[in-house]
Parts: sequence; structure tokens; C-alpha cells
Amino acid sequence: MPKPIRIAIDGPAASGKSTSARLLAKKLGYLHIDTGSMYRAATLAVIKNNLKPTDEANILPLLSSTTIELKTENGNLRVFLDAKDVSDSLRTPEIDHNISQFSALQGVRQLMVDKQRELARNGGIVMDGRDIGTVVLPGAELKVFLIASLEERAARRLKELSQKGIEADFEIVKQEIARRDHIDSARTSGPLKKAKDARELDTSRLSIEEQVEHLFQWAMEIIDSKNQDCK
Ligand code: CDP
Repeated sequence: MPKPIRIAIDGPAASGKSTSARLLAKKLGYLHIDTGSMYRAATLAVIKNNLKPTDEANILPLLSSTTIELKTENGNLRVFLDAKDVSDSLRTPEIDHNISQFSALQGVRQLMVDKQRELARNGGIVMDGRDIGTVVLPGAELKVFLIASLEERAARRLKELSQKGIEADFEIVKQEIARRDHIDSARTSGPLKKAKDARELDTSRLSIEEQVEHLFQWAMEIIDSKNQDCK
């Protein structure tokens, strides 16, 4: 039996990474790790402790005494901060506004990357984020970089917020996404960047089902070729 593969999915904000990764993992029977949710839970801890997202000197000790766990319950990923389920409090405008500055801190990234590599140790994983194909799992057998137009991504995020009963303005959501992409791409440690060997998929005109099908086909090509090698 070949070792199960590792799939890295990266891309800008609201490009459909975590939804695609979750459904792809389900189809393959793999584990899904949404690394954005780990950064989101840590940002929540920072806000709760009244720290500035740039205050690395106080943030690092806080993170070493904080536990962040991901668990799959009924096919859905749940995120626990110090054993409390915070999954439904992670996609708020306040977290969106603070997270990119926090995630640019070198010491924070090192902690997260170590944790993520440990989670991926046994393969059979779909991990999504910004630096998975470039830093966390540079040896991943399949790397995907998802893109979509800014307009389309803002429309998706607005819909997601309104389904949660959060009123938002399209232009503001669009600016916030563009601001986050800018900070994520400009940082020196683990910037948002397409890995040289990543396959790019533009999801602007694709339904979720269509985009998952593309990813599934790519994954199966690689899994099948590994099976052939083992014969
Ligand atoms: O869902 P969305 O694309 O809006 O964001 P996310 O994947 O939940 O990530 C939220 C933020 O976490 C990003 O804007 C990055 O600042 C940070 N992040 C990161 O720096 N590295 C990762 N591997 C994942 C997320």
C-alpha cells in the first residue's frame, strides 16, 4: 500500500480554500486541517487578553500557555481554544481586522508551522492556508493555488456573513479582503505565494461542486500513479 498523500491548498482570502479542502478531505477519507482557523483561534486569544496584534513580546508567552485543538465532529471541523469550542466565533470582522498583523509575527509562524507539520506527519491530509505548499509541507504530493477575482471573493464573504446574521457593506468587505491579502503577501515570514510546482485553479466561475471535482481528479491521478508504482 502506498503512503496516503499530502495535499496543500493555498490562496488569497475567501478564494474557497477551506470549503474545498473540507469536502475534498471527506471524499478521500483524509484529515482536513484548516490552518486559518488555528490563526483565527490564536487571534481570538490575543483579543480576549487585550493585547495588540503586533505585541510579540506578550503574545508568545500567551500562546505557549494556550491550547488550540482541531476536532472533526459529524464531518465538520470544530476548533477548541483552551478546551472551549470557539468555532462559531472565528469569522468576525474584529478577527479579520487583526489577524494579518498577528500572523506576520515570525515567532507566531514558527509555533504554528511546527504544530501543523506534526499534524501532517502521517499523510492522508488536506491542509489549507497561505504557506502550506511553500513552507509547511514543501514536499506535498499535490499543491494547489486557488484564485478568484476580488469582486467574487467579496461577494462570497458577504453572503457568508449575512447567513450568520452579520450585516456588512460590500465595499468595506472588499477593502478588508484586499488589505489582508496585501499584508499576507508582503510579510517576510511565510508570505502568501504560489509554490513553483503548484497547480493554479481559478474558481471565479466554478461552483463548489465543480471546484472540488477538479481537485479530486488531480488527487486521484497522483494516488493512482503511486498505486501503479507499488505494483
Ligand atoms: O477564509 P479566509 O481565506 O478569509 O482566511 P483564513 O484562511 O481563515 O485565514 C485568515 C488569516 O490567517 C489570513 O488572512 C492570514 O493572515 C492568516 N493565515 C496565515 O498567515 N497562514 C496560514 N497558513 C493560514 C492563515
